[in-house]
Amino acid sequence: MRALTWQGKRDVRVDTVPDPVIRDDDDVIVRITTTGLCGSDLHLYEVLGAFLAPGDILGHEPMGVVEEVGPAVTALRPGDRVVVPFNISCGSCFMCGQGLHSQCETTQVREHGTGASLFGYTKLYGQVPGGQAEYLRVPFGDSLPIPVPDGPPDERFVYLSDVLPTAWQAVAYAAVPPGGSIAVLGLGPIGDMSCRIAAHRGAETVIGIDLVPERLERARRRGFHALDLKEYGGDLSDAVRSLTGGRGPDAVIDAVGMEAHGSRVAAAAQGLTTLLPDALAAAMMKRAGVDRLAALHTAIDLVRRGGTVSVSGVYGGAADPLPLLTMFDKQLTLRMGQANVLRWVDDILPLLTEGDPLGVDDFATHRLPLEQAPDAYAMFQKKRDGAVKVLFSP
Ligand SMILES: NC(=O)c1ccc[n+]([C@@H]2O[C@H](COP(=O)([O-])OP(=O)(O)OC[C@H]3O[C@@H](n4cnc5c(N)ncnc54)[C@H](O)[C@@H]3O)[C@@H](O)[C@H]2O)c1
Ligand SMILES: [Zn+2]
Ligand SMILES: [Zn+2]
Repeated sequence: MRALTWQGKRDVRVDTVPDPVIRDDDDVIVRITTTGLCGSDLHLYEVLGAFLAPGDILGHEPMGVVEEVGPAVTALRPGDRVVVPFNISCGSCFMCGQGLHSQCETTQVREHGTGASLFGYTKLYGQVPGGQAEYLRVPFGDSLPIPVPDGPPDERFVYLSDVLPTAWQAVAYAAVPPGGSIAVLGLGPIGDMSCRIAAHRGAETVIGIDLVPERLERARRRGFHALDLKEYGGDLSDAVRSLTGGRGPDAVIDAVGMEAHGSRVAAAAQGLTTLLPDALAAAMMKRAGVDRLAALHTAIDLVRRGGTVSVSGVYGGAADPLPLLTMFDKQLTLRMGQANVLRWVDDILPLLTEGDPLGVDDFATHRLPLEQAPDAYAMFQKKRDGAVKVLFSP
């Protein structure tokens, strides 16, 4: 089959690789019809190379049609339409029972002390072949794939793999009171969708912050305040306070993560780790503070006293300095983590089958053949050609 493979820093290629096969009795093989490109893939493309091997298949936002089922699978049959969550969770352990699917105790990667395995996401998360490919082997066939109805185009359902549950969890964790206010840092797919979900769930004031004009414009078109970081710079907190009764928003979502703009020194340190041999770089990433923390610092600064900072952006360093004095003094709540995809599906599905209140139908800016994925990675990273959300057709 054809699949997008990682080869090195900013080097991904579409190669012919062996087709996946059923290994365990409850595996299914899914023929992928649509698969997304995520901001998390950009971290693999740029800074997390120490945890990848050349040839690793990337991608964790796939959907498609069941091609083959293992002998123990009873819930699915060939021909069924499914979305595949990005976390690999068993559905039956203690953590899955708590709705903490990203901490699944059956698939945790104990060798690295990390949570549930993820599709297409480094040795830290199990080095499982990903879904930017023609076919994908999916374990736990009876509980992991999400069945979706036939009829609407893939655009309607594909974001159940990641964007929708991630944004939903970010908003749920932000715990905005009814009629309250929220600021969202970063208006990539996750931040953009977080604004939409926050408004849908009753936030009165929604403020999106980014520095890419067309991303700001998308937020404005949906009726949100959109502030350009470049325009406000150091006055950002004044601008946000003036929209929130002088106090700051009830909650701030960090939908940026470890490659934030505006962290020059940390950016140089990150660049250095990508030049080290993998073993050294991996050890350094796991012991040192290597994140660009600009967005997280801004979130802590902007949020009102007693408010909540909800972090969906991915961070990777072990010793990042945080302003604990301010965090303690402001009495902040901090929530974070990989999305527990299956936890939120029942809340989200009705919004996809009864109309399109979140605007998923035209959420993607690009749909491209998988063969063009290498160019698409570069375009998405550089934010060229208005790229906000890219979907591939394998
Ligand atoms: N927690 C999860 O389960 C989960 C799931 C998916 C994605 N993510 C993470 O969420 C983050 C966003 O993902 P995405 O797909 O939207 O990616 P993206 O790269 O398209 O979006 C990031 C946005 O942040 C903006 N930005 C950069 N620096 C900023 C700053 N200092 N202040 C405000 N905005 C800034 C960028 O211009 C960009 O628009 C990434 O870190 C990704 O890894 C987490
Ligand atoms: Zn993702
Ligand atoms: Zn589990």
